[in-house]
Amino acid sequence: MPRKVILDIDPGIDDAVALVMALFDPRLEVLAVTATGGNVPAEQATANLQALVGLLDPPRLPRLGLAPADTALPEKPFNMHGADGLGGINLPRAQLHGGHVSEKVIWETLRAHPREITIVALGPLTNLSRVLTRDPSIVELIGEVVIAGGTVQGAGNVTPVVDFNFYCDPRAARHVVREPVTKTLVPLETTGQVIFGFDLLDQLPDDSSRAGDILRRMLPHAFRAHRQLLGSEGISMHDVVALVAVTNPELFERTTVAADVETGGELTAGMLVVDRRTVRQWRPNLDLLVNCDVPAVKDCILRGLAVAGAGT
Ligand code: RIB
Ligand code: CA
Repeated sequence: MPRKVILDIDPGIDDAVALVMALFDPRLEVLAVTATGGNVPAEQATANLQALVGLLDPPRLPRLGLAPADTALPEKPFNMHGADGLGGINLPRAQLHGGHVSEKVIWETLRAHPREITIVALGPLTNLSRVLTRDPSIVELIGEVVIAGGTVQGAGNVTPVVDFNFYCDPRAARHVVREPVTKTLVPLETTGQVIFGFDLLDQLPDDSSRAGDILRRMLPHAFRAHRQLLGSEGISMHDVVALVAVTNPELFERTTVAADVETGGELTAGMLVVDRRTVRQWRPNLDLLVNCDVPAVKDCILRGLAVAGAGT
């Protein structure tokens, strides 16, 4: 049976690549994809989600959630994703009518499939926090939450100790981390192990496919941004690795920790704090994926993109 998932994304190039893979992966049933502000403002995140799903036209159309317009985003020190969030490809706006705000779509979808759904959170945790605030009892209907973000031993990508998703909404991150639900965190030090070189561009699906066309137009910007902003000749796609943690968990080394999220401090707001005291005072509350089989994860990603190309 395919695994039922809700993707919560702030598209963003790596969110978009993860979306392309998920929509065509026969192991996943993408019931809903919900937008949140983060890499781009809320309205752009919604427009990108609608445009991507409209263009990809997957075999099973998921419900789409609109990013709440009132999500305040902190100043970003730099933008890896281009003004439109998708590497400047400026996809045509899809005229998808109606639509409900992301928290409502998540809430309704969870109630329709109690305890069956894995929420794959690839952006700030604002939407999930809002669902849990609106109806605290909904936590009992969530199967699992897999979260891209946080950093434990490694460096942050916004401050020395904070990743972008937790930086955008530290209170939401703390709220979700403290909830009594099965949570798996895929932190930066793990997702950042998987680096693709320029040869990725030759391994993408052909641009005669809709998926291949979008990927081949979007990804060159990722290489330019990584070189110009990070001095790196390769690219990390954090959200894509987090998706592989959902489809192929056997490729990751897992440890259970007791953690919380700092919500104050100019340098530390959003920092994931793990209790490593000899006599731990905090209760274990999340699984951390601390390492991965890099070659195998890269192979999964290339195969997943090829499947998407063959399906479009
Ligand atoms: O820190 C990880 C996050 O940074 C990813 O979700 C990616 O989209 C970028 O915004
Ligand atoms: Ca993201």
